[in-house]
Order: sequence, then structure tokens, then C-alpha cells
Amino acid sequence: MDIYNNTLATEDRKKLQELLSRIEKYEKSFVGYPCNLFFDYSELFPFMGHSINNVGDPFNTSNYKMNTLEFEREVVRFFAGLAELPEDEMWGYVTNGGTEGNLYGLFLARETLPGALVYYSEDTHYSVGKALRLLNMRSIMIRHQESGEMDYEDLRASLSIHRDAPAIVFATVGTTMTGAVDNISKIHSLLDEMLIEKHYIHVDAALSGMIMPFVEEPQPWNFKSGIDSIAISGHKFIGSPMPCGVVLAKKHNMERVARAIEYVGALDTTLSGSRNGLTPLFLWYGIKRHGMDGFKRMVDYCMKTAEYAVKKFNDNGIKAWRNKNGNTLVFPKPSQAVLSRWQIAVYKKIGHVIIMPHITEAQIDCLVNDIVNNPN
Ligand SMILES: Cc1ncc(COP(=O)(O)O)c(C=O)c1O
Repeated sequence: MDIYNNTLATEDRKKLQELLSRIEKYEKSFVGYPCNLFFDYSELFPFMGHSINNVGDPFNTSNYKMNTLEFEREVVRFFAGLAELPEDEMWGYVTNGGTEGNLYGLFLARETLPGALVYYSEDTHYSVGKALRLLNMRSIMIRHQESGEMDYEDLRASLSIHRDAPAIVFATVGTTMTGAVDNISKIHSLLDEMLIEKHYIHVDAALSGMIMPFVEEPQPWNFKSGIDSIAISGHKFIGSPMPCGVVLAKKHNMERVARAIEYVGALDTTLSGSRNGLTPLFLWYGIKRHGMDGFKRMVDYCMKTAEYAVKKFNDNGIKAWRNKNGNTLVFPKPSQAVLSRWQIAVYKKIGHVIIMPHITEAQIDCLVNDIVNNPN
């Protein structure tokens, strides 16, 4: 008996076709979100026909044998190299995106320093407020500077009032709206100045975690600068058909939360039980195809094109700027007419375009013309 009815009705097939056309059309105006659309994973399509699941810890074994744990370990090692996480402390896993990585970092921080206060800037990604509520952590929002970077005077003032409590600082390397980088060295010196010995620094490097390793003069951002964990998105700079990311943490902190689970024969160290086995494969493939040289070329291209964009906007009377090592071009919020044609992210009075590898100078010229010709 055939238990699998595998035909699709004509109208359903048409619906799929329409969806594909809609997505392809919208890709042409996709300039405001930090996802690289330049990728080709067609060589991996055969894996879509299998039930792949990376349940459990990537550095352990699992009873579920259709997994890509070996590839996941390679991906984690690659990112650990970029973030200069020492080998003897090296641990991490492939997440479903930046949000999960940040939630995990805060979870480890809370388990490491129970009762600590979390300090995070008002420019922190919106999901962090939710993570703090989920984890029931006490927190203080720190004011920002105009660039989007944390206001260190406000951090100093807040730390000085709560010197008796351990501190968890949630720093951002590449803020969502302006691509600003919170200064890890500065944060460390403030913690030292306040004599707060029990501290933990988590870094949200969703986008810029793949930019900092490839620029000439990166701001302090990684384990070498004294951080404890970091989350980096995979679908952003590398690009992927589905959201993904990596969280890296010090092994001895992770061991605090690890539990052995007999049912799956795995060590439960991650947030989800069943985990995507395809995304580690996509990331592995992207890393192998591009290599360090390829990523460097991509970053150079984005920086050069961002420079071009700032000049083009300014030459046409639109005040635009970007932060150091940033590929986010910030400018006054454009008119509704422009917003209806371009996928530009806006917040209060500003809008931004993120110069990813798929963005061309011709697209920027076209956008500038549209803004100039449609001021209201
Ligand atoms: C700074 C920052 N952190 C976290 C996130 C969330 O990442 P994800 O969408 O991968 O969950 C974003 C998304 O844009 C972001 O810009």
C-alpha cells in the first residue's frame, strides 16, 4: 500500500511558483538588512533529502547517527580562531542565529555569576530585553553616544552605585542601527577602576564578528581583549538560505550547565534539544569555499563600497555617515515613497543601508536618485 501521497495539486504548485517570484523580486530592493544574498549551496541540495539532526553537544557523541557534528566542530574551530579563543578553553555550537547565541551567553553568565547585574546599552538589539526577562536577570540600561556606542560615563556611574554586585556587561560589536562597536578595553578598565572582580563580558557580534578579523585596525572585540562569550550570526555576513549563527564560550563555564541525557546518548549543553544539522553544513561549505582570503576580499569590497556610498550620498546633499570599520550607512529617514520601494531599516529619525557583498555601486546610485527625487 502506498502510504505516501506525493503529488501536489496544480493550484498549490502555482502558489509555490508565485512565492518564488515574489522573493526574487524583493531581493532587488533588499538593501537595509545585514544578510548577504551572494551564495550558492546547490552542491548541498542532496542533503535536504535526509533527516539530519545535531542533537546534543557538538564535541560529544550522539545516538542519532545522521548528524553533521564533525562539520559543526570544524565550523566552531574556525570561528574560535577568528575570535582568538584559546584552544584549552575552546567550546561553542552552531545556533539558529544571533538571538539564540545572546540568550545562551546570558544564560552562561547568570550560571557563572548568580545574582549579578547586567549592564547593556540602549542600542542593544531588541531581543536582549526579552532574553533578560526570560532569564529573570536584573539589569540596567546604559545610555548611548550619538554614534551608537555605549556611553562609558553612564556605565561608570552605574557601576559605581552597584560596586557590591557582580557585573555582567553585554557589549555589542556592530550595533543594529549604526554599526557601532562598544569598546571592550574601556569596559575592562572601568570594571578594574571600580574594583569589581566578579565580572563577565558577553559580546554580541552578530554582523561585525565576521568583519573585525579582516580589517586593518579592528577595535578590541574578542577573547584576546578579555571577553567570556560571543555570538556571531552565520546568515548575515557569510550568507545562508536559513538563519544560523555560532556561540563561543569558555569551556569551563559551559561545563556548569552540562547534563548527560541517556535517551539520546548525548551531553545536553545547548539550548535546543534537536538542532539543525544542515546549517553547520552550509557554514562549513561557505568557509571552505571562501577561505580567509575570500572573506578578506568580501570585507574589503564592503568597506570600499561603503566609502563610495557615504561620498555619493553627501555629494547629493544627503547627510550620511558610518562608524569606523562599519558597513552600515546611516542617513536621515527617507520619505514614505522611497520606503515603499526599498527595504530600508528605519528607527526614529534615521534610516540605514547595510553594504553587504551583494550591494553594488549602481544600486546605491539608483537609491540616491530616488531619495533626491522624492524628498517628501
Ligand atoms: C546586533 C544584533 N544582534 C542580534 C541580532 C539578532 O540576530 P538574529 O536575527 O540572527 O537572531 C541582530 C539582528 O539584526 C543584530 O543586529
